[in-house]
Amino acid sequence: MHQTGFIQPIYIDNIKVPSSYLKEINKIKLLKGKEQHNNFDVKHDNPKFIKNTNEILSPKFLEIGNGHGFKNYKIINMWVQKYLKGEHHSLHIHTPKTSIFSFIYFLKTTKDSASTFFYNVGHPYVSTEAIEVTAKTGKLIVFHSTIPHEVKANNDNVRTIVSGNIEYE
Ligand SMILES: [Fe+2]
Repeated sequence: MHQTGFIQPIYIDNIKVPSSYLKEINKIKLLKGKEQHNNFDVKHDNPKFIKNTNEILSPKFLEIGNGHGFKNYKIINMWVQKYLKGEHHSLHIHTPKTSIFSFIYFLKTTKDSASTFFYNVGHPYVSTEAIEVTAKTGKLIVFHSTIPHEVKANNDNVRTIVSGNIEYE
């Protein structure tokens, strides 16, 4: 019997956050958004920000892409989010395009930082178990941009991440 189907992997790894990178991120002005603090008000293709991020994360992005038969990638856009106590990010996907992957890189967390919850494609129309990925400084999560995810109310004033989208080629 022939069998086929779809899988939506979620990759998790840890990469030490360089202090020089953190210093650069700290210079980025974040505004209080509807759900959490972020820099959604600025263009998300800042070349310096992308270059600095690639220096840290490119080995992991390439390793994941190679597993899907891709040789190269580019970061399309990226941004910073900081969650104060009670702040959250409601259920969303990044793009409906399956060639695009998204990432979350945890820069600052405490034991009280909120987890990210991932759901199967189709959620909430299709009800599935959530996959909880806890917040930890240096943790990198890479996932298909079509995977629904959310951050429930945060419980510290620290949780800071960079997130964005990469396209493989
Ligand atoms: Fe997201």
